[in-house]
Amino acid sequence: MSLLLDVKGVTKRFGGVVANDAVSLSVREGEIAGLIGPNGSGKTTLFSSIVGAHPIDAGAVLYEGRDISALRIAEIARRGLTRTYQQTRIYGQMPVIDNMRISAPDVKEGILPLFRRAGRASEARARDLLSFVGLYEKRDLLAGSLSFGQQKLLEFAMALMSEPKLLLLDEPTAGINPTLINGLIDRLKRANKELGVTLFVIEHNMRVIMNLADRITCLAHGQVLASGTPDEVREDPRVLDAYLGAQ
Ligand SMILES: Nc1ncnc2c1ncn2[C@@H]1O[C@H](COP(=O)(O)OP(=O)(O)OP(=O)(O)O)[C@@H](O)[C@H]1O
Ligand SMILES: [Mg+2]
Repeated sequence: MSLLLDVKGVTKRFGGVVANDAVSLSVREGEIAGLIGPNGSGKTTLFSSIVGAHPIDAGAVLYEGRDISALRIAEIARRGLTRTYQQTRIYGQMPVIDNMRISAPDVKEGILPLFRRAGRASEARARDLLSFVGLYEKRDLLAGSLSFGQQKLLEFAMALMSEPKLLLLDEPTAGINPTLINGLIDRLKRANKELGVTLFVIEHNMRVIMNLADRITCLAHGQVLASGTPDEVREDPRVLDAYLGAQ
């Protein structure tokens, strides 16, 4: 299987904090890869390093065999590599369907994305994706009136609008009740199998990531601690120690 993403020795510092310390890992085309690790181990920072949200201090990020380390977030997104956020970014004052017209990676992070008039094709895609995540009936409601779990599903559908090849999901199930979690896992697997989107998922819920991922990497203190199949990682004493030590 070919490598879609190849992270080579990526280091990212914030002042004296080394958030990513020579991290190397890869994501294969077509798989669901998982990223775990205790709080503050550098997972979100690694996603930001990969998608071009900030410059990295050392190493390289290869995507489809090309070095994208020097590219900005919007250029990387146009190549089909994008992410969702740990703090869900939806626009609560807008109807659900209008959120689907927002193209977040097209503008600088943190600035309200420009509201773009969608063409017919994207109107149809917006409706199809809302159906896919089970929110079609809610399309005219304000996004802020959705439950937390439904907002996560909306964010997932928004991310799929740009037809990503590789989608990075930062804790997609955090704060969602168990019933919706199963629905979300099912949608993630279907997006992978039916829409052909390669996924790289940060997840705290061990049951979820063991069920979802083909391969898992565990970070601790900004470094790769272990990587392998879910069973290998679950049974790795270093991983158990990292989690127990963090409590
Ligand atoms: N913008 C920033 N400025 C300064 N320090 C930061 C910044 N972002 C992250 N850090 C620090 O980098 C380290 C890694 O943080 P990061 O958010 O990547 O961890 P994480 O694994 O995603 O944690 P969590 O599971 O809590 O989401 C932490 O020590 C954090 O305080
Ligand atoms: Mg995080």
